[in-house]
Amino acid sequence: MDQTILDVRQLRVAFKGYPAVNDISFHIKKGEILGVVGESGCGKSLAALTLMGLQPKVMKASGQVVFNGENLLANKEADWQQVRGEGIAMIFQEPMTALNPVVTVGDQIAEMFELHRGSNKVEAQERAIEMLEKVHIPDPVRRAKAYPHELSGGMRQRVMIAMALACEPELIIADEPTTALDVTVQAQVLDLLEELRDTTGTAVQFISHNLGVVSQLAERVIVMYAGRIVEQATAEELFANPQHPYTQGLLATLPRIGGARDVLPAIPGAVPPLDQRGQGCPFADRCGKATPTCVATMPEEVELNAVHTVACHHI
Ligand SMILES: Nc1ncnc2c1ncn2[C@@H]1O[C@H](COP(=O)(O)OP(=O)(O)OP(=O)(O)O)[C@@H](O)[C@H]1O
Ligand code: SF4
Ligand SMILES: [Mg+2]
Repeated sequence: MDQTILDVRQLRVAFKGYPAVNDISFHIKKGEILGVVGESGCGKSLAALTLMGLQPKVMKASGQVVFNGENLLANKEADWQQVRGEGIAMIFQEPMTALNPVVTVGDQIAEMFELHRGSNKVEAQERAIEMLEKVHIPDPVRRAKAYPHELSGGMRQRVMIAMALACEPELIIADEPTTALDVTVQAQVLDLLEELRDTTGTAVQFISHNLGVVSQLAERVIVMYAGRIVEQATAEELFANPQHPYTQGLLATLPRIGGARDVLPAIPGAVPPLDQRGQGCPFADRCGKATPTCVATMPEEVELNAVHTVACHHI
């Protein structure tokens, strides 16, 4: 269970010379659930898209994305086809944009089996029904004949997960998969992802702006801010011993069980735009501990212990 399947080294993704993802390094092990958290605009989606070669054309990627020993950034377009679906699959916040509105969900899943697993039509239909069962869609034979708009948001997300799993990927990237769902359905989808990881052994990179949601699922968490990884730790360690002022700020905004339910303190200020990030710590203009050193030089990641790194000058 300790095998690294994805090793991202010094990944940088830049728009007109401005890095939106700025030299990030992290890894994912086989069967592991890794959480990625950070406010809007921190580079979570862009980093994830780049792992599949799907970053916008205007973005220039450099560094290494080593997946099963091969650097994917050296790929030609034809090589990416192999990686997408069978190696790494992605599910998004709003399945309506990813599903074809004029094809039944059963046919869409069946098509994955025909394209990627070489199944014939009859076999593909049978396996599509099995997949709907696997993601706990009730009455799968009937639901297979439904069009996406006939299903609820939660059911559509289950269909997306079924499509992703059809190719038996080693890694599923779930980008805010529950953000559009209400809290109860959100919890059910999180349970499903965990169950599928347990039964299929697929690793999951789970992206959310909500540290509370991430911590329900992930074993290890990466905190991103303005394109940088500012802290990485096991979920347990991050909660018990958060070190970076940004992580501490995110934790302070979480509702506490039994705590006051009125206004939660948000971190004042906002993530700086790409062209307004200086050479120092990107969090400096929002940080209560900032000093001239923080503004002048970028803090590098320092290992506090085997399961915890942090990038801050004043730890
Ligand atoms: N096509 C593009 N052209 C120019 N800049 C882009 C493009 N796509 C993303 N960016 C910029 O890259 C940065 C990172 O965006 P990204 O979508 O990865 O953020 P995110 O962390 O996923 O945010 P959210 O929580 O809102 O999804 C942002 O500053 C964004 O403006
Ligand atoms: S490096 Fe300085 S500005 Fe950045 S988080 Fe640490 S104390 Fe705050
Ligand atoms: Mg995003």
